Amino acid sequence: MQFFVLLLMIGIARAKLVVVPDAHYYCAYCQPEQIHIAFGDSVVEYGETLMDQTAYGAATIFVDGGTEHRKQWIHRVTLENLKFDTKYVYHVGSQYGWSEVYPFKTPPAGQDWVSMAYLQEEAERGHFDVILHVGDFAYDMDSDNARVGDQFMRQITPLAASVPYMTCPGNHEQAYNFSNYASRFSMPGHDSSLFYSFNLGPVHFVSISTEVYYFLQYGAKLIANQYEWLENDLATANLPENRSKRPWIVIMGHRPMYCSDLHDGDCLVEFTRTGVMGMFVLQGDTFISIFSKFTSK
Ligand SMILES: *[C@@H]1O[C@H](CO)[C@@H](O)[C@H](O)[C@H]1NC(C)=O
Ligand SMILES: *[C@@H]1O[C@H](CO)[C@@H](O)[C@H](O)[C@H]1NC(C)=O
Repeated sequence: MQFFVLLLMIGIARAKLVVVPDAHYYCAYCQPEQIHIAFGDSVVEYGETLMDQTAYGAATIFVDGGTEHRKQWIHRVTLENLKFDTKYVYHVGSQYGWSEVYPFKTPPAGQDWVSMAYLQEEAERGHFDVILHVGDFAYDMDSDNARVGDQFMRQITPLAASVPYMTCPGNHEQAYNFSNYASRFSMPGHDSSLFYSFNLGPVHFVSISTEVYYFLQYGAKLIANQYEWLENDLATANLPENRSKRPWIVIMGHRPMYCSDLHDGDCLVEFTRTGVMGMFVLQGDTFISIFSKFTSK
């Protein structure tokens, strides 16, 4: 049997359109990720109260690296030009069958969010703007010829179908060069979504792969790519016009930069912070100390 997995990407367009070179639209890149069993074409019907709009996407085949080489169709559809602070409903599918209808709400415009009252109310109502999942999904998504990954994606659907689900890879995603991670989660990133950033309200979120330091068999080039990208990204985010709008810079990654337990494997090596063979350190004197240079203000 072949599974058809549908992944929905939703971008929230800004009121003022600004072109970003490597993106289709300028956006906080707040895309809910959701998964469905569906057949046929990649279609999303959506709208504010009626599902009166249609968006089409494309399907690609993902082949798991396990012995069965299980194949799945991954459907990606982008909804463009959504309004701020607006509730939408949508479903996904085709003439062969439709999913349930899911709601989602786009975040408010601008950066001047009043956080506490909003957070309290939203939390009490069970509403969140974004979910950050810093790696180690499903232990492990590639297990049982990727059936564990399928089951995990089904289980997070009630959350991830309504709230942007933003991820970074952990060591448990390393099988077959992180392909279950890269194929199932579409982040606005480089090198198969291993690292990327997005803006949400007053925060610039940066997601890095700490795993590039630990799985060198997939290419040391990734360490350099990420390092250069990160330096540029932080320099841009730190430009006065950007930093004044988004004073918060939040970095997420799977392994801690610092830890207090000397006996843990991550703490013994700390490659993320100290670099590999002294190169591409994300903290320290040897190389440019990106974090202290750009983020300690
Ligand atoms: C692993 O994936 C990354 C990201 O797509 C790619 O740059 C790298 O070349 C791959 N490594 C191998 C050994 O295939
Ligand atoms: C930072 O500022 C530049 C120039 O104003 C702008 O083009 C860019 O989109 C901003 N980047 C971010 C990440 O906010």
